[in-house]
Amino acid sequence: MAASYAGLLAEKLETAGEREQAIMVRQRLVRAPKALASAQDAASPGGAGQLPIDGESRLHTVDFSRPSSGEVFVALPSGLERRVADFLDASRHYDVLARAGAAIPPRMLIFGPSGTGKTQSARWIAAQLGLPLLTVRCDTLVSSLLGQTSKNLRRVFEYAQGSPAVLFLDEVDALASARGNERDVGELQRVVVSLLQNIDALEENVVLIAATNHDRLLDPAVWRRFAFQLPMPLPDAGLRDQLWRKHLGAFGGTGVDFATLTACSAGVTGALIEQVSLDAKRHAVMARQTSVDEAETHRRLALAMALMQGKELSSVDDEVRWLRKLDMRRFSVRELSRLYGVTTRQINNMMKGSKSDGPQGKVE
Ligand SMILES: Nc1ncnc2c1ncn2[C@@H]1O[C@H](COP(=O)(O)OP(=O)(O)OP(=O)(O)O)[C@@H](O)[C@H]1O
Ligand SMILES: [Mg+2]
Repeated sequence: MAASYAGLLAEKLETAGEREQAIMVRQRLVRAPKALASAQDAASPGGAGQLPIDGESRLHTVDFSRPSSGEVFVALPSGLERRVADFLDASRHYDVLARAGAAIPPRMLIFGPSGTGKTQSARWIAAQLGLPLLTVRCDTLVSSLLGQTSKNLRRVFEYAQGSPAVLFLDEVDALASARGNERDVGELQRVVVSLLQNIDALEENVVLIAATNHDRLLDPAVWRRFAFQLPMPLPDAGLRDQLWRKHLGAFGGTGVDFATLTACSAGVTGALIEQVSLDAKRHAVMARQTSVDEAETHRRLALAMALMQGKELSSVDDEVRWLRKLDMRRFSVRELSRLYGVTTRQINNMMKGSKSDGPQGKVE
């Protein structure tokens, strides 16, 4: 939201003749983290044109970006890679297929748990097609003003037909919850109907992708409109190995045992692997190392997994006990003293304070 407001502010300043100020705001946006860059695009004249805006909050309901194939990486199981390849063919060769009476509208629904790469896959597809990505933040689109949501939706779909692009409805469940649902009376029912109408009115060759991690909430009528469906699973061992190698990059060095990292990370998402890799790399940079410390990487992975399982390890003592119980050999007293920068005696004292907590027990 802050990024969208900053983009709008720059626009306003420019029209008010405050060019220098506008340039300053845009420069700050350029230096801001990547996530903010799309707001810059949206605000820059000639970039994305006039993006649709929510009448109430004045925020853009669409993010404009141009993912490039070198910069976006996605790891998919081979079966899903084939489906995506089919989808890319259906989009690239739509005209030829249509002339032969064999075209399927290139519409794909991506679903699966959070952090499995749904948004990333949409970016990857746009990059492969060489098209800009129009990301609709469905939660922003749902306006508190009655009737405004359907209007927002219509504007977004109209905007998408303006020039070739991939229209991406991210977190579509915010719009498309089942009509029979008790909570979703009135407005939301109308929104689902309006979503269906907009999809039906969309020119058949426009590439449409929707993503959700609540696939059970989706109305069956919405499902039917997506000929391609991509269920994103948690990464299997092969994919986890790819993800670790990719995200540790040059910091993986020769010293990292990827087979063990892969085995220890069973059941986690790609997002968690990315986050642990980033933490480990940051630690290496601060310690002026050129590759990550393997034990430190395992420590961060174990703590992230504990959090994922709902364990709150609120003190260093809790962490030490947890790690010891998890893997006594990897997390020897000596190794823990090195990792935490304390003496082995202190580690032993922490262990003595141990009650019955640990991976098998309950951690308060
Ligand atoms: N299969 C994957 N391949 C490559 N990167 C992945 C994969 N899964 C997750 N990631 C990484 O994890 C991060 C989160 O992925 P992404 O935003 O695509 O998840 P998502 O499925 O859209 O999650 P949410 O439902 O919470 O929006 C990204 O930065 C991405 O690089
Ligand atoms: Mg997402």
